[in-house]
Amino acid sequence: MIDARSNQNENIAIIDFGSQYVQLIARRVRECGVYCEIFAHHAPPEEIAEFSPVGFILSGGPSSVYDAGAPRLPSYVLGSGVPVLGICYGMQLLAQELGGVVTGAAHREYGPATLRLSDNHSPLFAELPSEFAVWMSHGDKVTDLPKGFRILASTDNALVAALGDEERKLYGLQFHPEVVHTPRGIDVLRNFMFRVCGCHGNWRPASFVASAVEAIRRQVGQDKAVCGLSGGVDSTVAATIVQRAIGDRLTCIFVNHGLLRLNEAEENLDAFRHLGLNVVYVDASQRFLSALEGVVDPEQKRRIIGREFIRVFESEAQRLGNVPFLVQGTLYPDVIESSGTESKTAARIKTHHNVGGLPDDMRFRLIEPLKYLFKDEVRRVGVELALPEPIVQRQPFPGPGLAVRIIGEVNPQALETLRQADAIVTSEIAGAGLGREVWQYFAVLTNIRTVGVMGDSRTYSHVIAVRAVSSQDGMTANWAHLPHDLMARISSRIVNQVPGVNRVVYDITSKPPSTIEWE
Ligand code: XMP
Repeated sequence: MIDARSNQNENIAIIDFGSQYVQLIARRVRECGVYCEIFAHHAPPEEIAEFSPVGFILSGGPSSVYDAGAPRLPSYVLGSGVPVLGICYGMQLLAQELGGVVTGAAHREYGPATLRLSDNHSPLFAELPSEFAVWMSHGDKVTDLPKGFRILASTDNALVAALGDEERKLYGLQFHPEVVHTPRGIDVLRNFMFRVCGCHGNWRPASFVASAVEAIRRQVGQDKAVCGLSGGVDSTVAATIVQRAIGDRLTCIFVNHGLLRLNEAEENLDAFRHLGLNVVYVDASQRFLSALEGVVDPEQKRRIIGREFIRVFESEAQRLGNVPFLVQGTLYPDVIESSGTESKTAARIKTHHNVGGLPDDMRFRLIEPLKYLFKDEVRRVGVELALPEPIVQRQPFPGPGLAVRIIGEVNPQALETLRQADAIVTSEIAGAGLGREVWQYFAVLTNIRTVGVMGDSRTYSHVIAVRAVSSQDGMTANWAHLPHDLMARISSRIVNQVPGVNRVVYDITSKPPSTIEWE
């Protein structure tokens, strides 16, 4: 496995005890210019030793320290002698481990609170006001301090809302500094990293580029690599980095599965030419459409598309002779999800196989230059690499393409209808200047037909649904409150210009309980 991680020696290790906010903690730390990685609480100690952190952040978690089987504090945390910041469950573990007392509370405290500092000298709260708003979410409380600790701040409900042992540089916060509801939380984290751990904050996502290029060059030597290129930001950034390292010994394979949006294949090919990437284009539309004939079950559609994709990709890769390496645009959230704590591995709602997934017997060695980056960081790397704005800001688009946006059978007629409707939705929303604000916007072809009247005739045609959501990461999303005149324009253009559609509806559900795609 090739990777280039931080080229700094100011790493912060975040130990994950099952918090839903752990990725948020990592994002905040990186926003401060400090490189960090998330480790499961049961990760092998050697992994953390190799990372050699200058500080630990212990996440919250759903357990109580008294639960049977509750995660314990790994011994290397206190053994390492570097500063520690425990958040919520992390603070309770720290307190308990050091001889303090944690007590179960009759009521969970959940929601906003006012934090009052009881100690103005702690570096953790340097340059912060004596009172500020924080977000609480906890059951247990620390009721007796461990030896050497002082109370640094309290709220009405929690006498010990922050504690610290300045000598040993050990701190705990009962509130969540990482969430937006704690507006000064980032300053608390910054104080921990800069004033307590001695970080300087020089890390930038673009720091990856130079070290990744170097690492890939060393690893690949004179060999060749292939990359499945979709035109999305992840695969394009990954391919560009690898191309910088090994030039034309990288061949990108762009498979058109016939499920792309209007003009997407042509636009992608044009963009790839401008990037100087060495691209093999395979138009396999017919093959995919034949395999999808008569199939209506969404999971079966995905399986068929995944299988056909692999076959096409394999046969193209074999044509290139001996290619030992495969480039993939895997991102950090995928890595965290597949190696995370038990509580997180359970719930997978849909089979999200990126269509680039390949079988084990291909025996490719993987190059994953983005596997420690978040999506927004990849976009910043894209800017650094001078990739065109439309690629850098491109919306996520599912690997199985329009097949997940056609309810029922995928056929040329349905694809044609959806493509035309989708082009109207996207051009109108982008044209209204909302392209950045709205995370994803697209049309869905439902399998419902309804009665309408056009001119003097009765029609019985398809219903198009419009989906537009705001989101930070696609994990949760709110339906977008689009201006009514914009919705009206979208609706009238679709029914007037797209044959076979006589009704347009707008999806007003958020995720959860819905998902972004309809399937
Ligand atoms: P859902 O529909 O689960 O989607 O709310 C969350 C995000 O993932 C995208 N998505 C996919 N991306 N391959 C992908 O690479 C897929 O199979 C796939 N399915 C959904 C979706 O567009 C949204 O951004």
